[in-house]
Amino acid sequence: MEKFDYQNHTIIQGDSLDILSYEISDHSVDLIFVDPPYNIGKNFNGHKDKWVTEDDYLNWCYKWIDLCIDKLKSNGSMYIMTSTQFMPYFDLFIRKRMTILSRLVWYYDSSGVQAKNYYGSMYEPILFCVKNPNDYTFNAQDILVEAKTGSKRKLIDYRKNPPQVYNSEKVPGNVWEFARVRYRMDEYENHPTQKPIALLERIIKASSNIGDTVLDPFSGTFTTSFVAKQLDRKSIGIELQEDYVKIGLRRLQLTDEYRGEKLQKEIRTFETKKTQIKNLQLFNLFGKQSDKTLIH
Ligand SMILES: C[S@@+](CC[C@H](N)C(=O)[O-])C[C@H]1O[C@@H](n2cnc3c(N)ncnc32)[C@H](O)[C@@H]1O
Repeated sequence: MEKFDYQNHTIIQGDSLDILSYEISDHSVDLIFVDPPYNIGKNFNGHKDKWVTEDDYLNWCYKWIDLCIDKLKSNGSMYIMTSTQFMPYFDLFIRKRMTILSRLVWYYDSSGVQAKNYYGSMYEPILFCVKNPNDYTFNAQDILVEAKTGSKRKLIDYRKNPPQVYNSEKVPGNVWEFARVRYRMDEYENHPTQKPIALLERIIKASSNIGDTVLDPFSGTFTTSFVAKQLDRKSIGIELQEDYVKIGLRRLQLTDEYRGEKLQKEIRTFETKKTQIKNLQLFNLFGKQSDKTLIH
């Protein structure tokens, strides 16, 4: 285990079961976002996300779910993800321990062909759970979205007396559309399941306040800690793999050096000099930038 503590932000490298058991105090966290391995065979830097049996995976998950619940304050909230096929088991397990207030669908579009013989997977489920349904943080005013129907068409609500124009903003429903993090996006890091900043912004704004502590036991690229820092929350991020911890240290600007190594964002192929030179040559030849050089 290795711990990097910088003012309000802590990054811990290690196994989240151990760290949750021995390093984080019970009832100390306001919000937990959990995005664990999904048991679908993703490759996390050489570590395969696949358990021998489904029961092995679920029994492992049940252990850290119970620990996460212990870490939450009595008015705390937890957002938890897994693959569509395992979410029903999570739901059944958690509903005996917390109140599930929303079953969210994070929907994204995909330009590629997802599947040809069945319906492609275009969403990921998220449970929004609270310890106490009568006492929890929900900053509805901070996450309002445009209410398209009424405001755009300037409809009048005649049920009100006197009649009024419809609201132009509303609290989002339980289907959230955010683009997945793609290679060319500024926020992209080299990780197979990086979550979008926008998704975490909505969650952290809604379910925590300035100065609150936000915990992510499977941090990956540390999107949760990064957004928590931007929003003046405290953060604790746990991650098993050193390469991802390095991403976190850099992303949170906690240090620019790790064991003598300068922490720098990986240069993407389209950012390399070679591509720029090729583009310049084509520009000189044809007078415009060729799209072909942008394909890798
Ligand atoms: C689904 S990814 C999280 C992605 C993250 N939400 C992001 O935005 O980048 C799950 C992460 O859990 C890490 N992990 C797997 N087993 C772990 C364990 N036992 N303890 C801590 N981290 C673990 C993996 O290395 C992987 O980076």
